[in-house]
Amino acid sequence: MSKKYHIVTYGCQMNVHESEKIAGILRRMGYEETKEKEDSDIIVFNTCCIRENAENHAFGNIGALKKLKKQKPDLLIAVGGCMTQEKGKTDVLKKKFPFIDIMFGTLNLEELERLIIKKRQQKKKVIEIREKEGEIVEFPDPYRTSYPNAWVNIMYGCNNFCSYCIVPYVRGRERSRKPENIINEVKKLVAEGYKEITLLGQNVNSYGLDNTTGMTFAELLESVASIEGKFRVRFMTSHPKDFNEDVVKVMEKYPKICRLVHLPVQSGSNSILQAMNRRYTREKYFGEIEMLKSRLPKAEVTTDIIVGFPEETEEDYLQTEDLVKKVDFASAFTFVYSPRQGTKAAEMENQISEDVQKDRIMRLVELVNSLTRAKSEKYVGKIVEILCEDYDEKKGLYLGRDEFGRMGYFKCDHNAVGEFVLLKITRANGISLFGELQDDSRL
Ligand code: 5AD
Ligand code: SF4
Repeated sequence: MSKKYHIVTYGCQMNVHESEKIAGILRRMGYEETKEKEDSDIIVFNTCCIRENAENHAFGNIGALKKLKKQKPDLLIAVGGCMTQEKGKTDVLKKKFPFIDIMFGTLNLEELERLIIKKRQQKKKVIEIREKEGEIVEFPDPYRTSYPNAWVNIMYGCNNFCSYCIVPYVRGRERSRKPENIINEVKKLVAEGYKEITLLGQNVNSYGLDNTTGMTFAELLESVASIEGKFRVRFMTSHPKDFNEDVVKVMEKYPKICRLVHLPVQSGSNSILQAMNRRYTREKYFGEIEMLKSRLPKAEVTTDIIVGFPEETEEDYLQTEDLVKKVDFASAFTFVYSPRQGTKAAEMENQISEDVQKDRIMRLVELVNSLTRAKSEKYVGKIVEILCEDYDEKKGLYLGRDEFGRMGYFKCDHNAVGEFVLLKITRANGISLFGELQDDSRL
């Protein structure tokens, strides 16, 4: 009987895709997936450390395994990802959870097989974290779990050191993948039937700026979008300090690039943006939205916002509200600032009290929700193209998203997953849309 693996993932799409790479390694070693922890021979935690609650979540779930590990001493427990890569964290984990067998980081993911073999040969736990990023390693066989969508890394790491952010400390400096590797991967995915390709990087606009690729991001995007076939292209994340017209010109030329840009603004106040080390102003941000919409009037923007950053006054917060109203985002991810050890902002005076943070996040969420609800209402009566992604057992409906990421539900008498369909939207509920399948809508 073959051995079984179970992977628990925290955090962003970058991590979701990295778990697919981990699954690829484990399958190559002969493991098969199981949904049950109790059934597993190895459990891998792929952790995130971007905010404190992501860490607490992982701590809680790892701690809960103590009993299982006692009952099944041969069960291997491995912890990797951003948290183990944090300075001093492996010591904390070792003390708190002595039953962890293997720890690895974001910078030596590809070594997991060797670490598992090493652990099988010794009683002692195996802890190997690489301090500095090495050459990019290609993963030939990620085991993808998100059909019809596929994530494709175009670069790793971040050079920006926004003052609140731990990412540059746990993912190293920017490294760009070779264009031919990216393009070949996309070609293969399209040939296999994937219908949505998302190009991933912490700051996609700095693709190639390390002078190793001979291509800018706009050129790479064009090469990907010119691959034959019916599929969508997305990219994330764009940094407002680098987002530029060259990219928008490519979007204009290729309808298969979704008219959606994820452009995290973080704050609407210039003094907070400066304290965050974002290196743009709200005026520059407005200018970029204007440039995008003047070339692509139907384009939409999504964003990330942090409230309660050190020194944020009520006036600063209101500037964020004002920006949100003016830009009219398709959606916004909102976060309470979480101090991260080792970052500049964690050392700043005037950390904001929890009460004020809570009050601001509640007001902002309310505002964002009311704007996204109003946007959903505008869909009613319209016909939209949805890429069907899944079937919702509870609702008895298929679901998918339009190019702006808006979720649409519909009835269908055959398995539509992976198909582009046309829906006439009949009802909106919060951020979800409900629609009727149009005749002959299979595209
Ligand atoms: N506290 C709160 N939110 C954060 N983000 C990054 N670091 C922090 C932090 N320390 C948010 C930013 C980023 C998103 C991925 O997470 O908004 O764009
Ligand atoms: Fe963090 Fe800023 Fe880099 Fe994004 S650009 S990963 S927020 S440091």
